[in-house]
Amino acid sequence: MSDSVEIFEVGPRDGLQNEARLIPVAEKIALVDLLGQAGFKRIEVASFVSPKWVPQMAQSGAVLAGIRRVPGVSYAALTPNLKGFQAAVAAGADEVAIFGSASEGFSRANINASVAESLERFGLVTEAARQAGLVVRGYVSCAMDCPYDGPVAPEAVVRVVAALLEMGCYEVSVADTLGRASPEAVDAMLHAVTEAFGAARLAAHFHDTGGGALENISVALARGIRVFDAAVGGLGGCPYAPGAKGNVATEAVAAHLAALGYETGLDRAVLAEAAQLARAMRLGDAKLL
Ligand code: HMG
Ligand code: MG
Repeated sequence: MSDSVEIFEVGPRDGLQNEARLIPVAEKIALVDLLGQAGFKRIEVASFVSPKWVPQMAQSGAVLAGIRRVPGVSYAALTPNLKGFQAAVAAGADEVAIFGSASEGFSRANINASVAESLERFGLVTEAARQAGLVVRGYVSCAMDCPYDGPVAPEAVVRVVAALLEMGCYEVSVADTLGRASPEAVDAMLHAVTEAFGAARLAAHFHDTGGGALENISVALARGIRVFDAAVGGLGGCPYAPGAKGNVATEAVAAHLAALGYETGLDRAVLAEAAQLARAMRLGDAKLL
């Protein structure tokens, strides 16, 4: 088994999307540019969703236009539908992500569609991406439990992961959206999905509401997962998952992985600086920005 692990930085998107203060584009660009120096291969920087649903992401095009691109880094954007995909391409996103849910309640609350309807829309996006030569990543939210429907069966996750892989996603990230899943529930879900698809095309995405994300990352490592989403400074939360807190903090994941002997290729000093900037952005602290 490989002892190298990739952290996929999602702070500029998942981290910032839920902030109450409308963060100026220049601050977002400064964060992305700093993260670009940390050694990530992929950074999720934008989201082409309805500005009525997520006002914080409305200036995603300006963010992508303003960043200093580091060669070899893929700058990613969320796209819920064809309209979002076209905007992401126009803004120069290197890859896009479609985001589904294993539960009906969250799918309806987050993207105003049933799971089946969402998969139809995503099929249009993956087809357009194929034609445009862009790769597509997939997410499955509520892989253990849902704020609206309660516990989610591993088989429901397997069904949505299967659909996303079949339509051409190169990787699917299974998410603990609420950030409170038990290690047992994470293990049961990952057992089902890795048995069905292997671990190489899967990633895990933990929010850390309950403080158990690092333990759950260890559970996922034991199931062979080698890509983890995280947000610098522990920023984050989903506007359509009430009570969910930030993503697990990138710098904490990097330290956890280093202690376990895994190589991430990240510069921990740059990460610490980016975490400080992220926290200042959250506080809106002009002195620190
Ligand atoms: P809808 O209201 O059903 O959309 O929303 P619609 O197709 O009926 O269109 C309504 C209006 O939205 C129209 O404008 C469209 O043009 C516009 P109007 O005519 O009223 O002026 N519209 C758009 N505008 C910009 N970009 C677009 C777009 N599409 C339509 N792409 C929709 C459906 C999917 C658009 C909406 O529900 C939405 O934007 N949802 C996104 C919610 C979101 O971003 N949630 C957070 C990200 S997911 C997440 O954080 C979870 C994750 O981290 C993993 C985990 O932790 O679980 C990934
Ligand atoms: Mg998330």
